[in-house]
Amino acid sequence: MKKWWNWILGIALFCLLFIAIPLTFSGDEKEKLKPMFDNYIQKFNKTYKDNPEEYEARFKYFVASVREIELLNSESRGPEQHRARYGLTKLSDMSKAEYRDVHLSDEKPHKRKHRQNKNYNKKKNNTSNVFDIDDAENDNSSGNSPHNNIYIIIRKKRATLPLKVDWRDKGVVGPVRDQGLCGACWAFSTVGVMESMAAMSTGKLQPLSVQEAIDCAGLGNSGCEGGDICLLLDWLMMTDTPVLADKEYPLKLRDGVCRANTTATGVRVDSFTCNDFVDTEDKILEMIATHGPVTVAVNALTWQNYLGGVIQYHCR
Ligand SMILES: *[C@@H]1O[C@H](CO)[C@@H](O)[C@H](O)[C@H]1NC(C)=O
Ligand SMILES: *[C@@H]1O[C@H](CO)[C@@H](O)[C@H](O)[C@H]1NC(C)=O
Ligand SMILES: *[C@@H]1O[C@H](CO)[C@@H](O)[C@H](O)[C@H]1NC(C)=O
Ligand SMILES: *[C@@H]1O[C@H](CO)[C@@H](O)[C@H](O)[C@H]1NC(C)=O
Ligand SMILES: *[C@@H]1O[C@H](CO)[C@@H](O)[C@H](O)[C@H]1NC(C)=O
Repeated sequence: MKKWWNWILGIALFCLLFIAIPLTFSGDEKEKLKPMFDNYIQKFNKTYKDNPEEYEARFKYFVASVREIELLNSESRGPEQHRARYGLTKLSDMSKAEYRDVHLSDEKPHKRKHRQNKNYNKKKNNTSNVFDIDDAENDNSSGNSPHNNIYIIIRKKRATLPLKVDWRDKGVVGPVRDQGLCGACWAFSTVGVMESMAAMSTGKLQPLSVQEAIDCAGLGNSGCEGGDICLLLDWLMMTDTPVLADKEYPLKLRDGVCRANTTATGVRVDSFTCNDFVDTEDKILEMIATHGPVTVAVNALTWQNYLGGVIQYHCR
């Protein structure tokens, strides 16, 4: 047993040495990445090829990305076919600061406290959509929240979770969308989950208008300059605004005049719950398995060069 263990340890150390080599680039090795960078410029239609200053700056960030890609791939965990994969993306030539400022600043951090334990349900006498996973282990069948107009149903037992749930296979998740330079991740993710919830109850997956959320949502949400998942849900429910079909209110990726129509047909929010799940991520797992897709706000600093697969390491 012990021998076996030492052997494994030996291999692990050997691998570590091996992995460590490409992570420290000497000037020479850096130069060797130039052809790769030129290829990258061509593949992603970058425009700075003839601008020596930007070329050199971008090259520096590109090298940092190549390093990070190797590191993250080497640390990726899980079954081969599912594990997270990292590689060059159109964002690989950005500095971390630039990436953060341009693509990760959508969430309004000062609204975070809003996310604590919110459970809302409009139809107070209809419990079919109500859940409260924080209390899932309690044995009580129902209870009232401290706010007397919010009714919470507490599930009796923690469900036995299936080994695999992929809502995409069930045809209730739309395609990935590109937010471009519009900081509206909060609207994309929330409207995306509304599409899924609507598809699960109607059997028809229909793209809904993210632009409507960008243009209209109040309560401190500010379109392409950022917003908050919970505040958007708050606003949709308080104003009873239906989110229209995407084709009726198409995506422009810039702030525009609100064209919401409260009498039109669309998808309305009847209930939602907003929680902080840091360190209790298994509850998200349960929610996804038993209820459906969820919208999350995460630290995506390591996603700059993410290609696909399930991230099971370096999550935060
Ligand atoms: C680059 O431009 C070409 C021609 O305009 C286009 O076919 C290709 O899809 C573009 N590639 C990317 C990554 O945008
Ligand atoms: C409760 O449900 C009934 C129909 O089952 C409905 O008529 C009534 O308005 C509902 N009450 C509330 C407070 O939502
Ligand atoms: C409760 O909501 C579900 C789904 O939205 C609906 O099918 C059901 O008819 C509702 N029940 C009542 C009593 O309103
Ligand atoms: C159920 O709720 C009652 C009060 O509503 C409380 O006294 C009791 O401790 C609860 N039981 C459990 C298992 O939490
Ligand atoms: C709002 O929707 C209703 C119902 O579909 C429609 O009759 C009305 O013309 C719409 N209003 C606007 C301003 O588009």
